[in-house]
Amino acid sequence: MIIVIIGAQWGDEGKGKVVDLLADRFDVVARYQGGHNAGHSVYVGDRAFVLRLLPSGIIHADKTCVLGNGMVIDPKAFFEEVDQMTSQGIAITPERLKVSSRAHLIMPYHRALDHTSEERLGNEKIGTTLRGIGPAYEDKAGRRGIRVADALVPELLRLRIERNLEEANRIIVLYGRPPLRADEIFDEISLLVERLRPFVAETSHFLAESKKQNKKILLEGAQATLLDVDHGTYPYVTSSNPTAGGAAVGAGIPPHHITGVLGIVRTYATRVGEGPFPTEMTGAEEETANLIRQRGNEYGSVTKRPRRCGWFDAVATRYAAELNGFDSVALTKLDVLDALAEIKVCTGYEIDGRRIDTFPAVSHDLERIKPVYETLPGWQEDTVGITNPDDLPEKARAYVDFLSHSIGVEIGLISTGPERDQTIILRDSVMEGWFKS
Ligand code: IMP
Repeated sequence: MIIVIIGAQWGDEGKGKVVDLLADRFDVVARYQGGHNAGHSVYVGDRAFVLRLLPSGIIHADKTCVLGNGMVIDPKAFFEEVDQMTSQGIAITPERLKVSSRAHLIMPYHRALDHTSEERLGNEKIGTTLRGIGPAYEDKAGRRGIRVADALVPELLRLRIERNLEEANRIIVLYGRPPLRADEIFDEISLLVERLRPFVAETSHFLAESKKQNKKILLEGAQATLLDVDHGTYPYVTSSNPTAGGAAVGAGIPPHHITGVLGIVRTYATRVGEGPFPTEMTGAEEETANLIRQRGNEYGSVTKRPRRCGWFDAVATRYAAELNGFDSVALTKLDVLDALAEIKVCTGYEIDGRRIDTFPAVSHDLERIKPVYETLPGWQEDTVGITNPDDLPEKARAYVDFLSHSIGVEIGLISTGPERDQTIILRDSVMEGWFKS
């Protein structure tokens, strides 16, 4: 069994908690795209873990975790996280963590180039996490990237660094930054990749073998659907494919081996960085945005940036459901809305007085869109920690049903707080079916 978990909106839907919750039912947890631009917070009892590169499954001692070929890996960030987890009592060994030999490395000049690129764009900047993600993927597509396997050959590593840095330094210097030195980068990276060597594996083969042995595999998406470089709000996107199709490529598995796709949908929307956000709460609604930001702790777990907050967008989420083929949905952060007297849901878009029900390709159109809202009554009761669906206030249940209906997907679980056990597991035929097999 192979299940993909993907955020349906602009990220930070609470994938970390859901993956952690479901990890018990899987043997292997793999990531397939992105790098340490992701930030998953997982709370277990009084312990908090922040995961950037490592799959959330790493917290469970009996799971094997994989960093797939579609990822870009900063070796320094990798070991910072490994060391951090080790200090929190999580043992990380090559037996339970496998890094693809085909993943690309994020080099120090990629970080520098992420800064210069944002500077050059000025008002049009993407608002990236400045981790070097985009420039590393540019090098990959430009066929000059450095893969983990290449870096393990010192002569190759030195050669590629020298060649790539020559070009990178031209841009870095143009933006008034000091040029980077090839020998310094080589010394730093070669030490790190030596430490990485025992973790390096042929991960597609490992996943194929795991499947043959009837192991259950979870593919954990990072970022989210509307940040997908093909399908998101381009150019305000990340540089990889978090959508379900990307999971097959980025983990190196045959697409028809994927059993099912679980969408993570939050009861409202947020976005970090720039780019269109049709249902953003602005002007008179800023107070509501602040309330949600406070209650939902909507600050970047990597960059600490306050997240932009908005109403649930059924058009965008329906688009995500269609693109990824969500079989089931985990609805997160219901409790955050407890305080609201009224809750708006965007059920359609209007552009120049015309109603459209599809998600436009052009960011410019999205900026001009007027959301069409339906207003639902809030429940103004405490739902924190509810585990039994019968304990939900009627209006909360009606809100959940409205969302499910508006995106056309059954909801399999509802999260009512950050802790593992603050969850309502609904009777969901799709998810039940997966775990029976
Ligand atoms: P990059 O991935 O650093 O290149 O950033 C590109 C865009 O994706 C920016 O708008 C970031 O804020 C956004 N982004 C990247 N990673 C995440 C994430 O894990 N959650 C939410 N937004 C993200």
